[in-house]
Amino acid sequence: MKVGYFQFAPVFGDIKRTLDTVANRLARVECDLLVLPELFNTGYQLVSLDEAKALAEDVPGGPTTERLLKLAAERRMHLVAGLAERAGNRLYNSAVLVGPAGLIGVYRKTHLFFEENLFFSPGDTGFPVFDIGPARVGLMVCFDWFYPESARTLALKGADIITHPSNLVLPHCPDAMVTRCIENRVFAVTCNRTGWEERGGKERLTYIGNSEVVTPKGEVLKRAKSDQETLAVVEIDPLDARNKKINPYNDLLAGRRPEFYS
Ligand code: ACM
Repeated sequence: MKVGYFQFAPVFGDIKRTLDTVANRLARVECDLLVLPELFNTGYQLVSLDEAKALAEDVPGGPTTERLLKLAAERRMHLVAGLAERAGNRLYNSAVLVGPAGLIGVYRKTHLFFEENLFFSPGDTGFPVFDIGPARVGLMVCFDWFYPESARTLALKGADIITHPSNLVLPHCPDAMVTRCIENRVFAVTCNRTGWEERGGKERLTYIGNSEVVTPKGEVLKRAKSDQETLAVVEIDPLDARNKKINPYNDLLAGRRPEFYS
C-alpha cells in the first residue's frame, strides 16, 4: 500500500487557489492514502469569529469536500484533509476521509490548541476508525498528539494507520509520534504545513514542517524538511500493525491493566 503526505503552505483565505495547487500537485501521483495538513484549504491563524464562520464549510456539500471527492475519484486514491466545518451554529476543526466511492467519514478535533478555543467547539465525534480495504484508518488532528489517549484509543479501535493532519508550531511532535507508534504498534502519517502566519497583530506562528511516515517499530520512513514543500509517498504493509506481540510473553494491547489506569 502506498501512503504519503503533501506538506505545503496555503495562502490564507484563498481556498480556490489552494485547492488548485493541491489538485495540480496530485495530478500525477500514485498513492492509496494521502494526508494533507490541518485547515489545509484556508490557513490556520484566524483572527475573528466572523472570519472563521466565513471560511468554514458544510461537510459534505461545501466546495472543499466536493473538490476532494472529485480528486479522490479521478486519482483513485483516499485523502485525509483538515478543514473548518460548519454544523448548525457551531464550527469544528475537522478532518475528512474521502475515497474514490465518496465521503467515508468526518472527525472533529477533540483537543483544541491555543486560540482555536476562541473559534471552534471541541469535537464530539470521538476518534473514528474506517476500514478502506487495504487498511483500517484512524483520524486525529495535530494537538491530539499531546494526549496519548488519542492514539491509544485509535489503536484499541483497530487502526492500522493513524492519519494526522497538523499545523505544528511546537517542536516535539515529530519525535513524539515515534513513541506513539511504538507504544501502539501502528503506522502514522503526520502531515504538517510550512511557512508562517502573522495576522491581525497576533504573534507570528511558524510552522515546523517535518511531516513524516512512521512505522509500528518507530522507524521514520520519510521525514520532510522544516521549510520545504514536499510530496512524499512510501510503500508500507499495513498488516504489520496487526501483530501486537512484542515477544512470546508480551502482547501489547492484551497486556494492558486498565483497572489500574484511572
Ligand atoms: C495544533 O494543534 N494546531 C498545534
